[in-house]
Amino acid sequence: MRLDRFLSMRGIDSRKSIKKVIRSGRVEVDGKPVYDFAMEINGNNRIVLDGKEVENEPYVTLMMNKPEGYMSSMVDERYPSVMNLVPDCYRKRARLVGRLDNDTTGLLLLTDNGILNARLANPKYGIPKTYRVEVNHLLTPSFEEAVKSPIDIGKGEIANVDNLRILDEYHAEITVHEGKYHEIKRIFGKFSYDVIKLERIAFGGLVLGDLRQGECRLLSKDEYVLLLESVHMKFEEQL
Ligand code: URA
Repeated sequence: MRLDRFLSMRGIDSRKSIKKVIRSGRVEVDGKPVYDFAMEINGNNRIVLDGKEVENEPYVTLMMNKPEGYMSSMVDERYPSVMNLVPDCYRKRARLVGRLDNDTTGLLLLTDNGILNARLANPKYGIPKTYRVEVNHLLTPSFEEAVKSPIDIGKGEIANVDNLRILDEYHAEITVHEGKYHEIKRIFGKFSYDVIKLERIAFGGLVLGDLRQGECRLLSKDEYVLLLESVHMKFEEQL
């Protein structure tokens, strides 16, 4: 992988300013300063930025901002797979953590830590997921009140809304913690709303932030530890 890509995947900075950082001699590869941002590196190289080693985690966990029109599947089916957006070097390893509908955008995680993946998907751990929703008609105080109680969303399933924040007449943020099939659309549908736009903006304490649609980045160590802790795992124990 190229050195600038390696650093940007680790959330160090935007790719553009990483080039400047490298050109100014702040990055060392195997003990020698490197000025060529396109240098090819591999897992055996020791990369140091400003005197601090840039961690190479045993597992790869990525955050993607999924665009519309991509399927949360491992292979292309009716639509292109989100895996097409994952850098080549991680595509074979990373597995999707849950799914988003084709027309849903936003935060999608991928990891090759199988235990973490299984736990994040397990409703027992109640991982909160927050969505920004646009609907087709006015959001009302009575809707806001109604979602405070458990909602029968059909097929024998009950949804529980942890939090609803109405942003304006047609937009709201909603947090749920179970991850049922089409959960958000079914919750709003129950009150005769069509969901026009749906974006996941947070997952288990991680936020999408300014990651651009179609882009992927590795989680920082702090984010990864936060995710592990949300399912009662410890960083030191998973090595
Ligand atoms: N709920 C939905 O209805 N769709 C998604 O993609 C995610 C949650």
